[in-house]
Amino acid sequence: MFDTTFSPLQLGPLTLKNRLIMAPLTRQLAEEDGTPTAEMAAYYARRARGGIGMIISEGTYEVDELGCKAYLDQPGIANAKHVAAWKMTTEAVHAFDVPIICQLMHGGRVTDPRCLFEGESPVSASDTQSEGWVLYTDTNDEKHDRGIDGDWPKVTFPPARALTEAEIHRVADGFAEGAARAVEAGFDGVEIHGANGYLIYQFIHPKTNLRTDDWGGSPENNVRFAKLVCERVRAAIGPDKLITLRLSQDGVDDFLGAWPGGVEYARAVGAALADCEADALHWSSFDWTDNRDPDADDPMPKVITRASGKPMLVNGGIMDGAGSEAVFEAGAGDAAVVGRPLFAHPDWPHIIRSGMDYPWTEFDRKYVIHAPVDLAVSYPADRRVPNWDPDVTKRRSPAADTA
Ligand SMILES: Cc1cc2nc3c(=O)[nH]c(=O)nc-3n(C[C@H](O)[C@H](O)[C@H](O)COP(=O)(O)O)c2cc1C
Repeated sequence: MFDTTFSPLQLGPLTLKNRLIMAPLTRQLAEEDGTPTAEMAAYYARRARGGIGMIISEGTYEVDELGCKAYLDQPGIANAKHVAAWKMTTEAVHAFDVPIICQLMHGGRVTDPRCLFEGESPVSASDTQSEGWVLYTDTNDEKHDRGIDGDWPKVTFPPARALTEAEIHRVADGFAEGAARAVEAGFDGVEIHGANGYLIYQFIHPKTNLRTDDWGGSPENNVRFAKLVCERVRAAIGPDKLITLRLSQDGVDDFLGAWPGGVEYARAVGAALADCEADALHWSSFDWTDNRDPDADDPMPKVITRASGKPMLVNGGIMDGAGSEAVFEAGAGDAAVVGRPLFAHPDWPHIIRSGMDYPWTEFDRKYVIHAPVDLAVSYPADRRVPNWDPDVTKRRSPAADTA
């Protein structure tokens, strides 16, 4: 049953025992200064034990500068203390013979303002301001459980300023430094987060990239920053570590987002990435079959993998073995990347392989089945107070958490 799903995959330098990969999932379980915790090691090790072929960590900040850190209690890989603490996780996961890569991300204009330093503005491709986003919750049940009355709370962001040319290079170097630290911490490679509304996405998406220099204005220019990051990261970690690059057309502040030009833009992005240093690309969505292009049918990951010639990891709405096989049957990619089902049950790979009937319809309810009622695991408490103060003077001070 599900023969392709459970066949091995050679992905860059890594051999995966099957084609199921755990999606990056932010949990905000680190300490305030970004140090990963034992709870995180236990959480990842439990998923490794559950039969997954590879794990991609939650989005992690690679340096603590230029507004990189995006979330309170987000883990970092920005200093020696972070490296030492991540070893708990990588060792615990490796004990189950499962590779784990570290997702490196820069929040850009949707960085939680409380993560910025005093007087600092968020950075982006251009001078823009996110329109904000509604807290990601799915059902009225959740609204009830979390005690929210009235409209969904809206998250607000201050205006962002465009990165200078020198800063673009500095951010790329920051990714490389974080990648080197990730390898030191025992990760088998890194994922560059170019999706979901964060900084690299803000360069790739024409909506947020209004630049007229070499870093904007065409699909080739819009992906130049992503390619620079991949290049610097490769130089830092060498050929024996995996690099993936995550892409999407929607983002945390634009859940229904689409690339102008749809499939045609995706083809141009894919072609421009053909010679990038990533071993594989990773399509992020909530439904990989929905390309949001009224004029074309092909799913985005299929278009991009064809145009780039790169292996493709496909994410979005894969809930069972048939869902994973559908990715391969469509020629859309080489591995199925799974998020919410692994919140719900760490043994998901074993369960789907057994063919056992399972109440997957419960997925969207707090992302856990038979919730342990500790909602903090899925929704950290600070998410209940989403009206962030955009006043840039009210920020943390650098002295507070130097490691
Ligand atoms: C609570 C939550 C946290 C997430 N955190 C991240 C993250 O840190 N990095 C990232 O690239 N995507 C993140 N995502 C997106 C998921 O990786 C994935 O794209 C999404 O859940 C859709 O896949 P699924 O249908 O398999 O759940 C997150 C999604 C959720 C629901």
